[in-house]
Amino acid sequence: MHARAVAVLATALAAVAVLFLPGSEVRAAEAHRPQPAVVAHRGASAHAPENTLPAIDKAAALGFSWVENDVQRTKDGKLVVIHDATLERTTNVEQVFPGRAPWKVKDFTAAEIARLDAGSWFSPKFAGTRVPTLDQYMRRLERNHEKLLLEIKNPKLYPGIEAQTLKVLANDGWLDHRHLASRLIVQSFSANSVRTVHALKPAVRTAFLGRPDTADLHRYAAFVDLINPSYRTLSADYAAAVRAHRGPHGVPLGIFTWTVNNAASARTVAGFGVDGIITNKPEVVRRALKTA
Ligand code: G3P
Ligand code: CA
Repeated sequence: MHARAVAVLATALAAVAVLFLPGSEVRAAEAHRPQPAVVAHRGASAHAPENTLPAIDKAAALGFSWVENDVQRTKDGKLVVIHDATLERTTNVEQVFPGRAPWKVKDFTAAEIARLDAGSWFSPKFAGTRVPTLDQYMRRLERNHEKLLLEIKNPKLYPGIEAQTLKVLANDGWLDHRHLASRLIVQSFSANSVRTVHALKPAVRTAFLGRPDTADLHRYAAFVDLINPSYRTLSADYAAAVRAHRGPHGVPLGIFTWTVNNAASARTVAGFGVDGIITNKPEVVRRALKTA
């Protein structure tokens, strides 16, 4: 028999065998499911200013390889890593540019943003920390051997940001097979944005941030590999409904859920079989999973 046919038959037999396992053995099989990846939300954002280089250094130092970030664009077309559409919460923009309210990221040049202090608001210890460009951020991730869940934030404000993001990723060597296979996922709350990323570069794994109706999941499965809902909207049934669909790369859709900051919720979503847990408190989640 052809080797591929043998493999398909073996997989089918294994699936049928699970149906006939006694309860304790089913539980044992489930226990062998890999633990979810723990994703440091905006970097190790409880320990260092969110979305900065110190935040990803800290995540690496704590032993977490996955980090999440948010990407937006400056007035002169540079991609920067920052969560809010405006600069005042996480920088000293009000002091440096007092007449420029409402301080939108898209109204400031990269050179202007590079003058801002993005660390002092968090702690004087981080004074002088800058808003990183996406290029600086990718190079630091590479140095730290980290993995990235990259969020395209507010894409309606930044036409063409998908192609531009892919260009930076390509220039920084993140679109080769090794990175694509295990170190990069691109996500957005905008289905259009994720669809665009998939159309431009089908090899990139993509995720939709949200919880589409189960009846619509098959449409998302045409262009996303993961559905990433808030943990508050997730249930065992919904997780199973997601996994019942295969994504564009031929494997069941995955789930990275957010933002899980306590042990009980981490254990609950791990029990649903999620693939990743996005958290501001990665140590709490890691400990919870060890003791689950
Ligand atoms: O990755 C999920 C999470 O980041 C989505 O919410 O507002 O923190 O970007 P937000
Ligand atoms: Ca985010």
